[in-house]
This record gives sequence, structure tokens and C-alpha cells, in this order.
Amino acid sequence: MAEGLTGLLRWYAEMGVDIAVDAAPHDRFAESRASICRAEMGSLPAAPPGTIEISRRVMRDSGTALPPETTAASAWEQAAAAQSLDDLRERLSRFEGCGLKATATRLVFGDGNPSAKIMFVGEAPGADEDREGVPFVGRAGQLLDKMLASIGLDRGKVYIANVVPWRPPGNRTPTPLETSACLPFTRRQIELVDPKILVCLGGASAQTLLGGREGVMRMRGRWFAYLAGNTEIRALAMLHPAFLLRQPAHKKLAWQDLRTLAKELNSYQLTPVGSYP
Ligand code: URA
Repeated sequence: MAEGLTGLLRWYAEMGVDIAVDAAPHDRFAESRASICRAEMGSLPAAPPGTIEISRRVMRDSGTALPPETTAASAWEQAAAAQSLDDLRERLSRFEGCGLKATATRLVFGDGNPSAKIMFVGEAPGADEDREGVPFVGRAGQLLDKMLASIGLDRGKVYIANVVPWRPPGNRTPTPLETSACLPFTRRQIELVDPKILVCLGGASAQTLLGGREGVMRMRGRWFAYLAGNTEIRALAMLHPAFLLRQPAHKKLAWQDLRTLAKELNSYQLTPVGSYP
């Protein structure tokens, strides 16, 4: 009997059910279907010029469901009002529009140099990040550090964040509803860091921030225009380090993309990264 229960609990943990949030069960699928139905494409509130247009386009092109109107309204307003990264972190910690907050241990906001000219945006915190409150500290983070070092970068020269700041249960990919709920904060975070180059790590980040329905395999290695406030910056999509850990044969593609990034850095004279033919 005890063995059976232990086995069941182990199976739950492996499937990502590692926390009890309520005494009564909820049908989250039904709840999110209901909010998708309520979401109206035209009902978003006014947001800074450019921001809303690109965000609407991202959502329309990617088929992303918008979060409920009131949540979206307060998120855009809250994020736009933030005057510094600390202020934004504080507002995000009070934001209730993303269900992941209920199951995560802590908010994982950002790491690195807030004045960096290069910003990396990944997908979502994993178990290690959830424990430490710092993005990319687990195995994928260690690989990211090596990738940065290969072109002369480190966390003192870049800023790192995620498209959602709370760990999805079982490290699953965040849903489009979750990434779009957090998008006002992610966009404002990028605006406040004000990088010259944005690097989207993995499909969830690339699709959320750069739009389109293409998979990351098609998007990687290409430059996109990204509107950070009123400034258009260059954005590159790359394979996610966690994916490279699972599929090491694709590291050669990542190396090509790192060289693309390094050449761009050289052209801005952002950091001495050597010469990359
Ligand atoms: N993967 C991510 O996308 N972000 C993290 O912070 C860690 C792993």
C-alpha cells in the first residue's frame, strides 16, 4: 500500500505535479478556454505607440490568445508605469495575471548587467532557477555561460531574462496564454535595459517577441527588427541551450549563430570578441 502511494507520488513528481495548490480540484483547461473566449482582439487598452501595434501583430500572427481584458489592461498599464528595473520587478511581483505564479516558489526576474548592450531572453525558469531566483543557473545556464565565453562575453557584459518569470510545473514550455500575459512586463524589461541587440533563446522566446508561426529551426540565425519603445533594434533567434543539451548534434548550428552574433558585436564595437570569418 505504502509502496503504491510512494510510486504514485513519484509518478506525479515526474509528470510535473510537484505542489498542491488547493484542497479542491480545478479544471484549468476549462478556465483557460473560457478566458480565451472572453479575450477580444480589439479590446486592449491604449499602450505606448508602436508597442501595441507590434504586440497585436505578434499575437495575431502567432495565433496567440490574449489574456482576459482586465488582466491585459492592468498589465500594460503596470508595466508602462515602471521607471526602473527594480520598479518593474516590484510591480511584477504584485501581478496576478499569470497562473504560473501560484505554483512557482519565487519570481525569477533577470541577471547580468542592466546597462548591457546585449540582452538574452530565454523561455522560463526551471527547478534550479526557481530555487535560486536567478535565470539560467542550472545545466542549461552553464551551457549558456560557455556559449557566451566562446565569443568573449560573460554575465557582466550581457543581461539575461525570460519570457515568463515563474517556473512552469514540471519545466514544461509556457503556453501562449502565459507568455502573452507576461508580455507587457517582458517588453518593458527590454525597453528599460535598452540593449542594441536582443537574442531570443528558443522557440517560445522567438515567437513571443518576434512574432510569426515559424519554428525556431527556421527562425534561428536570422536577424529581425524589434521595436523596443520607440527604438528599432536588431534581434537574433538562436537555439535554446536546454535543447542543445538534449540534441548535442545541433551545437554546430548554435556555433554558426554565435559567430553571426559576434560579427554584429564587432560591427558595433560592443566588445572585443576577436575576428569571426
Ligand atoms: N531555461 C530558460 O529558458 N530559462 C532559464 O532561466 C533556465 C532555463
